This record gives sequence, structure tokens and C-alpha cells, in this order.
Amino acid sequence: MSGVNNEGFVQIEDLDQHAADAHRPTMAERQRVDYRTIAKDVGRLGEGKQYFIRTHGCQMNEHDTEIMAGMLEEMGYAPANVIEDADFVLYNTCAVRENAEDKVFGHIGTLKPIKAKNPNLLIGLCGCMAQEEVVREKVRVKHPHVDIVFGTHNIHMLPELIEQAHHSKETIFEVWDAAQGTVENLPKMRKDGVRAWVNIQYGCNKFCTYCIVPFTRGEERSRLPEDILNELRELAAEGYKEIYLLGQNVNDYGLDLGHIDFADLMDMAAGVEGIERIRFTTSNPWNFTDKLIDTIARHDKICNNIHLPAQSGNSQVLRRMKRGYTREEYLDLVERIKARIPDVSLTTDIITGFPGETEEQFQDTLSLLETVRYDSAYTFIYSPRAGTPATRLPDDVTEAEKKDRLLRLIGLQERITSEHAQEMVGKVYSVLVEGESKTNKNVLQARTESNKIVHIEGFTPDEIKSMVGQMILAKIVESKTWNLRGELLPEGVTV
Ligand code: 5AD
Ligand code: SF4
Repeated sequence: MSGVNNEGFVQIEDLDQHAADAHRPTMAERQRVDYRTIAKDVGRLGEGKQYFIRTHGCQMNEHDTEIMAGMLEEMGYAPANVIEDADFVLYNTCAVRENAEDKVFGHIGTLKPIKAKNPNLLIGLCGCMAQEEVVREKVRVKHPHVDIVFGTHNIHMLPELIEQAHHSKETIFEVWDAAQGTVENLPKMRKDGVRAWVNIQYGCNKFCTYCIVPFTRGEERSRLPEDILNELRELAAEGYKEIYLLGQNVNDYGLDLGHIDFADLMDMAAGVEGIERIRFTTSNPWNFTDKLIDTIARHDKICNNIHLPAQSGNSQVLRRMKRGYTREEYLDLVERIKARIPDVSLTTDIITGFPGETEEQFQDTLSLLETVRYDSAYTFIYSPRAGTPATRLPDDVTEAEKKDRLLRLIGLQERITSEHAQEMVGKVYSVLVEGESKTNKNVLQARTESNKIVHIEGFTPDEIKSMVGQMILAKIVESKTWNLRGELLPEGVTV
């Protein structure tokens, strides 16, 4: 078990055991199942009823919600505009930080009196929180008005769980410890008509010491390339232009398949006709090979926009996080990427207040931001997650210090982000039209390759509709806090 070294920290090497203990399924053990062959036919149980799904967390969850919406609509359910109208309310949850969990229980609590008045209301809880025993216990004890609890490995069971719930007065718990394979041909109700999320890989084998994801999402499993390519071709035929390849660790794609890696997959994806842009998330600093950098550089369709979570700029903190790289190695990777892709836009995730983080170590994170000059950063205060190794590390950083560091980090990144945006003013970019802006029907919303939103004024809603999915040239005339203001280049003008 863990020893304590002379710095007083639990020896991180011992935590490698976690990863070593994880059982990796072989190809023979892996199952690829077709939803159409395993789905229980529950008929049109949702006919005349409405559903509302509240989604927390990452794009994986957003996409799982699209899949569950697809299953519900096949059952006859229609989407409700407001939660109050819904006959079925589902919470698709995130377990990465504690405050997200608290919010979910807060919401579920507010449904208690509503359910008391309307016993036909069904309430479900799924996603990463459902994988945690402590959460299930809390549902049992404090929230027995929840009807269904199911986890990340069996979302395909939603229709039959709803059917069971109709006959049960007790909460139904159907949470699996591990995935039995990958499920293909799931129905999907995609939210957007231009950009589509596509899962390429599930789970994570990395066991960073603060992170609960390997426990809630299980081991890394790659979808077969032919299934992914078929989905991309279907999406292209339906008119989708931008694809977001999703996985917890996309650059580990294929390690479990053996004959293909992420760069190969991207090469193939870039060959799908009709798809204009390919994005991917989350790519991590490991397995970011020169071959992968070269593949991104070589294909115009693959966006020069890379999310590269650093978590910290200090090598000792990185070691305690068990990230597997030092500050120098991370910066070397950034240099290699920038040398090959000069206009790359980099984004990152940073955790402040990791157990034992000193002010000096935090200064290294600030200097990392200054050196890399990320386009944007997602910043978090460390949140201890039950069952993760970092909870055993001594922590003498006060809450006030953690918050202060977060604010300083955000302040610095906001300055860098706005400097990047300022540099874009006066330049012309090829942007993909997504539709109307959320706040004004006469403003067109488009997106740059670096994932920035550009608003262009002076259109009718019909004009905007006819341009959705087109690539147009826009000159940036102003940078605002959350987006850029652009102007359309006159017809015939090229750059
Ligand atoms: N506390 C704070 N942030 C966390 N993240 C993951 N686990 C924790 C935790 N326990 C952050 C990491 C990760 C992002 C998705 O969430 O920065 O990259
Ligand atoms: Fe969590 Fe990402 Fe580390 Fe996996 S690689 S353990 S998902 S932070």
C-alpha cells in the first residue's frame, strides 16, 4: 500500500497499482452489440407524454443526452419546453466536482412536492453520479421519490427501465460496474443541424489522482473504425458539416484495437466527402505523437484547434497528480505543435489548489499560461472526490487561498484571451454559418476554425436559413467579451 515519502506525500508510484489492476478486455472479450437486436420493444409507451432532460458536465454527457432523447422519441415522447410540463424528468449528471452533485440533489429535492401531487411523474437519475455508491445510498435514504437510477454503461436500457418503473413503487437501480462492450446503432436526436458529436472512444485508463472518471466511465474502449466512418458518412448525407470526435482520451484511440491509431482514424475521417471540419476532444499530452501533429497539419479539414489539458505548470504538482509528464515535457510538446501548426489555437484545463500546492508552484501555472498563451482555459478549484487517491494527500491550502488563486488565474487568462481576440480584428477568416444568433433573428452566427463565435448583422431570418452550413469569408471588425463582430466580404472578394 501507499508509503509516505520525505516530502510527506503519499508516494504516487504506488498509485500506479490502480492502473495496473484495471482489467483490459481483449478483442475476444469485447462485444459489439447492435441496439436494434438487444432493445426491448416497449411499444409507444411515451405517446402523448413529454420528457425533459437536464444535462450536466462534458460533451460526452451532452451526446448521451442526444441518444437518450432519441430513444424516448422512438417511444412516442415529445420534448417539453419547460420542466413543469414534463411527464418524465431525467438528470444526466456529472461527478467530476462536488458542487455539480450538490446542484443535482437540490433540483431533485424541488421535485418532491410536485411528485407528491402528480404520482404519474417519472424521475430518473443517470450519468457519472449514478456510478457512485454514495450517491445511490443518498437516493435510497433522502430521495426515494426518484423512480430510476442507471449508470453510464447501460443507457441503452432506458426504454425498458421506464416500462419497469410503470409497474414499480420502489426506486429501480440498474447500474453496471463495467461496460459489456460498445453498443451501435443507437437512435439520436441531435440538437444541432450543422455540427454533430460522434463518440470514438469511451472510458479512461489514466487514473490521474484527483479524477473520478476512470471509476465512473470505466476502461478505455474504442469503437471500430468502420462504425465511426459509417456514422460520419450518414451525417454527411444528412447535411452535417462539422464533426466533433469525442472521447475521454482521443489520442489513445485504437490502443485496444491494435491495428489503428488516432492519426489513422483522422486521416480516414478527413476523407469523408461533405464534412468540412473535424474537431476532437479531449486530446491529452500523452500519446500526442509527431504523426498525429503531422496529420492535423496536413488536413485542412482538421481544425487547428487543440484542447491540451495541462492541469498545472509545476512538475512536482504534476507528479502528485500522476499526469505522466513534466512542465518541460509539456512545453516541448507545445513547441512541436506550434512549429508544425503555426496558427494553432490551444485551450486547456487547469486545477488550482491541488493538495499541497504552494504559492510558488501556483506561480509556475501562471507562467505556463503566459508562455503557451492559450486561447482559453477551463479553470477549476480542486474538489476532493471520494475514492480517488488525491484525497489521501495532505492538504494545507486554505479555501480562501484556493479561491484567490482561481481568481488570479481567471484574470490572467481573460487578459490573454482578449489579446488573442484583438489580434483577429482587421483579419479575414473562413467561418461556418450555424444560424441565427441566440438573441437577434437578424444576426448571423458563424464559427471560426479556432472555435470562436462571429456575429454578422443585417440579414433576414430567411437569408440566414439559406446560408446555414455554408463556409463564408468574414472580416473581424470588433472583439467583444464572448464573441467577435464580423462583416461579410463582398461577393467575389477572396483572400
Ligand atoms: N477537482 C477539480 N477539477 C477536476 N477535474 C477533474 N477532476 C477534478 C477534481 N477532482 C477537471 C480537470 C479535467 C476537467 C474535465 O475537470 O481539469 O481536465
Ligand atoms: Fe480524468 Fe482526464 Fe486524467 Fe482520465 S485523463 S483520469 S478523464 S483527468
